[in-house]
Amino acid sequence: MIIKEFSDELFSEVAKFCRLNMELDPVPDFLFREKTFEDEDFNPQTTLVAVEKISQKVLGFIQGVVRNRKDERVGYIKLLCVDKNFRRQGIARTLYKQVESYFQTNNVKTIRVYESFPNYYMPGIDPFYTEAIAFFERMGFKKFNDTSNLVSNLSSNLKPSEEEMTKLKEKGIECFRPTQDQRDEVLNWVEKAFYGWIPEVSRAFKNEPISLFCAKLNGEVVAFSAYEVNNIGTGWFGPMGTDNKLRGLGVGGVLLKLCLYEMYEQGFTKAIIPWVGPIPFYMHYANAKLQRVFWRYEKKME
Ligand SMILES: CC(C)(COP(=O)(O)OP(=O)(O)OC[C@H]1O[C@@H](n2cnc3c(N)ncnc32)[C@H](O)[C@@H]1OP(=O)(O)O)[C@@H](O)C(=O)NCCC(=O)NCCS
Repeated sequence: MIIKEFSDELFSEVAKFCRLNMELDPVPDFLFREKTFEDEDFNPQTTLVAVEKISQKVLGFIQGVVRNRKDERVGYIKLLCVDKNFRRQGIARTLYKQVESYFQTNNVKTIRVYESFPNYYMPGIDPFYTEAIAFFERMGFKKFNDTSNLVSNLSSNLKPSEEEMTKLKEKGIECFRPTQDQRDEVLNWVEKAFYGWIPEVSRAFKNEPISLFCAKLNGEVVAFSAYEVNNIGTGWFGPMGTDNKLRGLGVGGVLLKLCLYEMYEQGFTKAIIPWVGPIPFYMHYANAKLQRVFWRYEKKME
């Protein structure tokens, strides 16, 4: 077996390989491209393909990225899979160790699995990939939390009612879709209120229409909700956030519904509401139900 850096030349073969070997997630090519080359932190040195020496058949794939977070550099294992017929032969271990050693020499103190926001595929390991749980625990990872994705069936019922809109207007709150001219104003507010979501909100401004709704009170932005900013083309909602002082007034509910209704009009039948969060809120406004559960894993480097 030899290890190659991932490149455009290997793209189609590796994308197909992942579809065949990640049974719960048949990733289409466009999504595989978004996760790999279109990741701002894509690094060929930590995106590796194991191939059989003679036949050049792909046997395994790993993608690691390093993100500069507020206080530290965090390494993420973003994707990992090994050919079903070649498991328990140390292929994942070999790929992982090479990525971990890169992380170690590049000042990474914490490694997490999958949840590499803003561009991530899943917010942790789906425990139905039981082999992955066994693997990461063997590599020294500890489970520190769990989270879930919800799913909402979209329909015309999600259109916010006149009554809901009027109630907000009476409180002086106006909901709107920002224009490109309002980008800086919105992002300046997001930076203060929800720093971690700047990349996702910025991404919404690249979509046509801009996949973002905001609310203003007294001329100031106080809330936002976005969609189609990660796993684009698959109907992902979020993120969303309402200023602390304005919570409980129905602003979030209306912004959520504006996004979901627009997704419905664009032809999506379901919305995934990932990495939640306030489950009762989404049940109430969008009749959302649990779709998948994820276990979150972390390894602290010595
Ligand atoms: C998880 C996965 C990548 C492991 O690949 P692999 O090449 O078989 O793993 P390795 O042979 O390097 O395993 C290293 C160690 O992990 C543990 N491990 C891996 N698979 C295991 C299993 N099925 N049962 C128990 N332990 C396991 C073992 O401790 C193993 O060491 P050992 O064989 O010396 O006991 C592979 O099972 C896979 O591709 N699964 C589907 C895709 C997936 O789950 N991806 C991650 C989604 S979050």
